Amino acid sequence: MQLQFDIRGMDFARAGQAAAQIKKVLQQAGMPAGTVRRVIIVAYELELNIVIHACHGTITAHISPEMVKIVARDRGPGIPDIPLAMQEGYSTAPPHIREMGFGAGMGLPNIKKNADHLEIESEVNQGTVVMAMVLNKV
Ligand SMILES: Nc1ncnc2c1ncn2[C@@H]1O[C@H](COP(=O)(O)OP(=O)(O)OP(=O)(O)O)[C@@H](O)[C@H]1O
Ligand SMILES: [Mg+2]
Repeated sequence: MQLQFDIRGMDFARAGQAAAQIKKVLQQAGMPAGTVRRVIIVAYELELNIVIHACHGTITAHISPEMVKIVARDRGPGIPDIPLAMQEGYSTAPPHIREMGFGAGMGLPNIKKNADHLEIESEVNQGTVVMAMVLNKV
């Protein structure tokens, strides 16, 4: 099964809705709670990164009984230094975004912790593709 969502940059009114929709589908499919939890952390952080840091993009969830793969693609500024962006506490979020409670620099480290496999490809001034896989370990 495959689900796809369009994500708009700075659209805070709808931020988190893709992750919520994916959660609903996984719960309805009877996926174990621990797996759902890990997938949703990954999907939510990727969705918010598009909202906060990019112009627009898509979140795709590839769902099978063995695993859930979340692919986030965006058009945006890209990530110039991926190892730096992966560090806990590193964030380029401006003050007005931090006032909203985002920008702790914990999104990518959290994705890394919860995913079994993570790949990031990014081109400055073009965009970013993140592929994160969560295995359904029972
Ligand atoms: N899709 C993206 N496009 C461009 N830059 C990104 C993208 N995702 C992450 N980054 C860059 O990587 C940094 C770290 O991302 P991370 O998700 O860990 O933290 P954050 O989004 O700044 O804060 P938090 O996720 O804790 O609210 C961001 O501040 C930003 O500079
Ligand atoms: Mg983030």
